[in-house]
Amino acid sequence: MRDRLIVALDTDDGEEIDWLSGALMDIVPWVKVSFQAFSTVGTEVFPWLNGRGHKIFLDLKFHDIPNTVARDVGTMTKHGAQMINMHAAGGLEMMQAARDSADDAAYSADIPRPLLLGVTVLTSMDETGFQQSFGSERGLTKQVVYLARLAQEAGLDGVVASPLEIEPIRKACGDNFVIVTPGIRPTWADTGDQRRITTPTEAIQRGADYIVVGRPIIEADDPLEAAGMILEEMREA
Ligand code: C5P
Repeated sequence: MRDRLIVALDTDDGEEIDWLSGALMDIVPWVKVSFQAFSTVGTEVFPWLNGRGHKIFLDLKFHDIPNTVARDVGTMTKHGAQMINMHAAGGLEMMQAARDSADDAAYSADIPRPLLLGVTVLTSMDETGFQQSFGSERGLTKQVVYLARLAQEAGLDGVVASPLEIEPIRKACGDNFVIVTPGIRPTWADTGDQRRITTPTEAIQRGADYIVVGRPIIEADDPLEAAGMILEEMREA
């Protein structure tokens, strides 16, 4: 289970990143580096955290024209990210260009290609928020499954989605498609701005490959204890 928990290092405080990643390195290999952390540490984050034995999910959610996203993904592949995401709403051509670029960059640097994920619909949105924001009458789950299929067609390895959408994505995209789920809240944690959430137990039972947890761990009085409790819950599930 330790390989299926990803801790979001959502802070722009370098000392906190140092402390958290150092404390977690023996129990949680995967950490998520988002824009806050990346803009604080820069590309040094790769040798630094990889050197501690962490695997890095670079959560910059690329969304731009195909040429730009291809360059971004190629560059981050060369730097050594083990997982990279982009908005599936960027389209088929954008995701295909990203996949080709990651393939080329990994081949020329002689390193494994990172897992490439499409972000479907943010877990902070509920159905009303989604329909309002996109001017769409489409059901939210239908949109998530549509984007997951598009990501698969483009050659991505999987998607980021809410744990509530695991079953329909599995049905549409099969068992080998990777599903990473944020929107995880243990019963003892605050919900915050997340809307489409479940507990770690439920996410694992529904079939998530990886779960992403940020605030319930990094804002806990004892982050190590909180991570341990979540891992225990995942194991029991
Ligand atoms: O603190 P919390 O557990 O809500 O953190 C979840 C993390 O996952 C955040 O870094 C957030 O940006 C990210 N994320 C998300 N929903 C998505 C994609 C990424 O919550 N669809």
